[in-house]
Amino acid sequence: MSLCIRPIIFLFLPLFVCATQWLQYPASGIATMTHYTLPENDIASCGCTAESTHYPTAALNQMAFGSSTAFGPACGRCFKLTLLNTFLSNPPFYPTVTKSLVVKVTDLCPLSKTGWCNGTVSGPNAAGNYLNFDLAFPSSSIPSNFFPSNVTLYGYTDFGVWNISYQSVSCSSWSGFKNAAALGSVPSLADGACCPANPTGSSNDTCTSFSDKNGVPPNTASSAATRQFGVSVELAWIATLLIPLMYSPH
Ligand SMILES: *[C@@H]1O[C@H](CO)[C@@H](O)[C@H](O)[C@H]1NC(C)=O
Ligand SMILES: *[C@@H]1O[C@H](CO)[C@@H](O)[C@H](O)[C@H]1NC(C)=O
Ligand SMILES: *[C@@H]1O[C@H](CO)[C@@H](O)[C@H](O)[C@H]1NC(C)=O
Ligand SMILES: *[C@@H]1O[C@H](CO)[C@@H](O)[C@H](O)[C@H]1NC(C)=O
Repeated sequence: MSLCIRPIIFLFLPLFVCATQWLQYPASGIATMTHYTLPENDIASCGCTAESTHYPTAALNQMAFGSSTAFGPACGRCFKLTLLNTFLSNPPFYPTVTKSLVVKVTDLCPLSKTGWCNGTVSGPNAAGNYLNFDLAFPSSSIPSNFFPSNVTLYGYTDFGVWNISYQSVSCSSWSGFKNAAALGSVPSLADGACCPANPTGSSNDTCTSFSDKNGVPPNTASSAATRQFGVSVELAWIATLLIPLMYSPH
């Protein structure tokens, strides 16, 4: 749940432009997995150390991540992800081997109108899932043949999107957990970073939402039209308030 913080001047307005809520999700379930390029040693949205990229990491879709920028409650959390089947390919590919890996969430997959990170409280992504884990791949920590394939049948090896099962796990099962340099956040980022070594969901070890903390609307991409509308209405209200003041006789 998020409470959208609005500048005090707008509080009395009847129009609520940022009523969007973050997704609450169970500790295990079905999700989709995509992959993206995160160069080794790059600092991603949560501000986890560069060394974290030497181990499996993922970006989580914005509304499950819990912030539209910087860090959110998902930062640092670890999940065991298991590949189930592909569904963009025809026919779907059901691998005969079971492949899993444990990732640490270090990045935000921005909300969009379409695409795999577009799950919101009002609906899932095109695969019917609310969660998408965008795996940083290729990665020196993941074998290049991690994703099963059948090139004889499909003519290609990268299926792009997988149906997966996910399970929230202790980060003690993440391969980077024994390397202190791969844990925590970049000190120079100070309050702009949050990357707990092993968050449990308890408020004492889990990140807050940077968006909520700083009054940034949770839903910046898909509600752009609503926001413009909201802003113009708010500007109209300011004008209504200020113009009589400006023209009032002294
Ligand atoms: C996400 O995008 C897909 C198309 O790619 C669409 O079918 C689906 O309704 C969208 N979901 C939301 C919540 O907007
Ligand atoms: C690949 O697909 C072909 C054709 O369906 C099948 O005979 C073969 O067993 C498959 N190989 C693997 C590794 O799944
Ligand atoms: C994903 O896998 C689950 C579990 O096997 C299954 O119930 C679901 O239908 C699959 N979804 C798609 C889109 O293939
Ligand atoms: C957080 O609080 C729980 C009890 O609510 C406690 O068991 C745990 O040790 C605390 N963790 C930290 C990092 O302080």
